[in-house]
Amino acid sequence: MDLEKKLAAEASIDFIKDGMVVGLGSGSTVNWMVRKLGEKVKQGLNIRGIPSSKKTERLALEVGVPLTDFASVDCIDIAIDGADEIDGNLNLLKGGGGSLVREKVVDVNADQFIVIIDQSKVVEELGELPLPIEVLQFGWEIIAKKIAELGGETVIRIKDEKRFISDNGNYILDCKFGKITKPEELHEKLKLLTGVVETGIFTNMVDKVIIGRKDEVEVLE
Ligand code: 5RP
Repeated sequence: MDLEKKLAAEASIDFIKDGMVVGLGSGSTVNWMVRKLGEKVKQGLNIRGIPSSKKTERLALEVGVPLTDFASVDCIDIAIDGADEIDGNLNLLKGGGGSLVREKVVDVNADQFIVIIDQSKVVEELGELPLPIEVLQFGWEIIAKKIAELGGETVIRIKDEKRFISDNGNYILDCKFGKITKPEELHEKLKLLTGVVETGIFTNMVDKVIIGRKDEVEVLE
């Protein structure tokens, strides 16, 4: 699986051209991409990255990828990010690492969005994994009840025996909805709940998917 992630990640580097502003996603697959990008920068590639999490920011700085921010650029040329699940319509379920809000801000604002995954992430329908939903700390209990009324079995995310807190200072609720047959519709209903910051459903965003399969990659568009 790790080799497949690395293959997909490294294949995505070919789409990054000199002068581009690059959205850097989050997660172990993206980490492979950021490390490779660091090597390319050392060889002379001139790009600037916008990280979608503090973890990615730290890694990018460590491997020498120059960074910028939304105050300094008008657009992102390309964003490259991982996913926890992808269905046949290229809808994504994301947020396993808890970075879904910043990831969505980066990915949705890129001219081109490429997803890099190993083959275990391909599913018929989203929802085999719980859907991560970022919510305000204030009132999270009532927000969880409202999500339950929409059919979600909700658990607050715990890490190192404490409630997980996102880079934005919020909680993550992991919500089992069973098979998500209408991802866009579910996302829209959830977004209407006051206190929901963002959901891990990403629809109508993906331009290209690079899937690591054993020792080769498959590209879907
Ligand atoms: C983090 C994410 C990641 O992209 C997703 O969890 C995939 O991670 P990995 O590449 O480690 O399998 O959405 O919020």
